[in-house]
Amino acid sequence: MFMKIMTTVGIMGIFLATSGFAQTTLKEAFKNDFLIGAALNEAAFTGQNINAVALIKTQFNTISPENVLKWESIHPKPDQYDFSAADRYVEFGQKNKMFIVGHTLVWHNQTPKWVFQDDQGNPVDRDTLLKRMHKHISTVVGRYKGKIGGWDVVNEALNEDGTLRDSPWEKIIGEDYLLKAYQFAHEADPQAELYYNDYSLENAPKQNGAVALIKKLQAQGVPITAVGLQGHYKMDWPGPQQVDATIQAFSKLGVKVMITELDLDVLPPATRSQAAEVSMNFALQAKLNPYTNGLPDAVQQTLAKRYADLFAVFVQHHDTISRVTFWGVTDGDSWLNNWPVKGRAAHPLLFNRDGKPKPAFNAVIQTSKLPQDLQKLM
Ligand code: XIL
Repeated sequence: MFMKIMTTVGIMGIFLATSGFAQTTLKEAFKNDFLIGAALNEAAFTGQNINAVALIKTQFNTISPENVLKWESIHPKPDQYDFSAADRYVEFGQKNKMFIVGHTLVWHNQTPKWVFQDDQGNPVDRDTLLKRMHKHISTVVGRYKGKIGGWDVVNEALNEDGTLRDSPWEKIIGEDYLLKAYQFAHEADPQAELYYNDYSLENAPKQNGAVALIKKLQAQGVPITAVGLQGHYKMDWPGPQQVDATIQAFSKLGVKVMITELDLDVLPPATRSQAAEVSMNFALQAKLNPYTNGLPDAVQQTLAKRYADLFAVFVQHHDTISRVTFWGVTDGDSWLNNWPVKGRAAHPLLFNRDGKPKPAFNAVIQTSKLPQDLQKLM
């Protein structure tokens, strides 16, 4: 019996938390369910943020690039690519034997204006934009062929009502810009997984639009691997049942579902919008920033409960869910400190600003099957 317990404990890969007692890690707890990841900023993957690196290596087995693979970072001028940061991101993932995600090839944000314009600043024609898209995708995907395991090929193509967003891609190329993007990505690395990634797919109109879009791409022969639910969630939206229904809706199409950018916003909402539209920006007011000295216990508990409710759904759908990725490592890194209001103290993740696990960390671990197995053994 003792040996059995010790083997299980060993398999779980315990680590000593600074609090002094043994805890399992996220990647161990969910190793039979799905990959567990974090989005990394440059300070993390270059090793400058030593605390973050330790957490990443211990807790996660997949990484996403928060910004360094976006068009504006990697391809700032027509004839100029800058792979310096992206190469280090990929090296970090390889060195630590992690599943490396590419984010993102075709998007309407963080894409320079020149992509859509000629020398006079007028919109380019369809052929020119298709050529630019092809060159960009083949260069970037080709460079990391066999290293980056899956790509967010198109990010956020849909409006909240489920219709196709009127982005410069759609306006200039037409709706087949999606088909082309997936074809170019597949051609550049036939082994890479191809994803469609978006926010608020939990809401019926947008979900219906996404289901129709994926079906259409599948009918056109696109080998789409998975749909990414970004997971920029609020405390009261979406409900666990809504998430459950969303996972089922996409699973029926024969694709995997991934939670790609998970964070739970506990701050007072600056807007009623549920959209994670990065261009939103509201003025800072004291009442929108109540937790500058840390998160009160009661709110920690509410956050923990909310995380547990969501993870219970993810675990239930472990056959469909291939990955759950948090959008950042600690609360201090989160983009929610600056979106949709600049300069707030956000608390959306499982680790606080000192890199210590919050009550939500334990609540999430409790939803995994491993600790219960261990409890039974003991
Ligand atoms: C965010 C980054 O976290 C920020 O650092 C950046 O300033 C803006 O973009 N949806 C996405 C991500 O797909 O790329 C966004 O990341 C968050 C919303």
